[in-house]
Amino acid sequence: MNILSIETSCDETALSIVECSGGIQAPRFKVLKNLINSQIPIHRPFGGVVPNLAKREHIKNLPKLLKQLKIGNLKLKIDAVAVTVGPGLEPALWTGIEFAKQLSKDLKKPLLGANHMEGHMYSILLPSAKENLQLKIENLQFPSIGLVVSGGHTIIVAMKSFTKWQKLGETRDDAAGEAFDKVARLLGLPYPGGPEISKLAKQGNPKAINFPRPMLLNKDYDFSFSGLKTAVLYHLRDNPKTKKADVAASFQQAALDVLVKKTMRAGEVYGAETVFICGGVAANQELRKQLSRECEKRGVAFLSPSNEYNTDNAAMIAAAAYLRHLRKTKYKFVAQSNLTL
Ligand code: KG4
Ligand code: ZN
Repeated sequence: MNILSIETSCDETALSIVECSGGIQAPRFKVLKNLINSQIPIHRPFGGVVPNLAKREHIKNLPKLLKQLKIGNLKLKIDAVAVTVGPGLEPALWTGIEFAKQLSKDLKKPLLGANHMEGHMYSILLPSAKENLQLKIENLQFPSIGLVVSGGHTIIVAMKSFTKWQKLGETRDDAAGEAFDKVARLLGLPYPGGPEISKLAKQGNPKAINFPRPMLLNKDYDFSFSGLKTAVLYHLRDNPKTKKADVAASFQQAALDVLVKKTMRAGEVYGAETVFICGGVAANQELRKQLSRECEKRGVAFLSPSNEYNTDNAAMIAAAAYLRHLRKTKYKFVAQSNLTL
């Protein structure tokens, strides 16, 4: 079935058409269209996402993107419309839901709801034009441990199958992406901070400053990043002349140490055949490099989405909606800002 999917949970307006096939044991996806309209320049002067501005932009961008899809001219039929119902910013979520409801009426096709976090998880199954999907699916062996790291979430999940998983732990305060964004602001770097920090970190020494590794030694799979951010704040206050690149590199390494070690520990305890990473922070090259190196040492397969599917997109929403559809479970079409995995 071809799913036209809509994502508006945060600051990206995104529309996709994804060909979905296969059953619960072996779902297959082919991304036919993938349009994203980023609002980064709009929110940048405010140093973060402003919910009502995001809403205004989504309302403006959704019809534009739909026009760009030219569904009337496409030689394919749309079988369902899918939309993110949560988690995310409530006013932003509502714009997508209302738009999707109307579109489903206009096209006379069923409406499917999707969980944004499930979308990030299933993004590992979306092949880019250059990739071999079969290979990607064969690499995903269960049990599998996933690190879901975005601007709003940091979760370790143990997966027994495509539809059975258990959340092992999550952040108790700031998400990893949020910590990157806040530290970037302390360093005077623009929003979103993650890519800026990783760029600057390349010129710095990750061992220059010994920032804390919060909760590294705890036996659980929870995280805490707000203390690390505060440590950076105090360091900058007390050492105003430190090289910013060293601060970026040392902060990044402190965060990565915790993410990598806790994920690998979960992998060991749960006997993972595959470890995967997804979400906006998975775009961090150093994180992917260090996690894949640890997996290689232990003979565990490592998987990450193609870069275009790490940050928010609508293709992953079609995948999440398709799996919910196969499971015959449904979401209510109301904004659920606190939905989780
Ligand atoms: O998944 P995503 O696009 O949106 C949410 O669902 O939150 O994630 C966005 C987050 C932002 O905090 C951004 O700074 C972070 O992902 N991010 C990165 C990198 N690229 C994006 N963090 C670290 N390194 C990166 N290269
Ligand atoms: Zn996201």
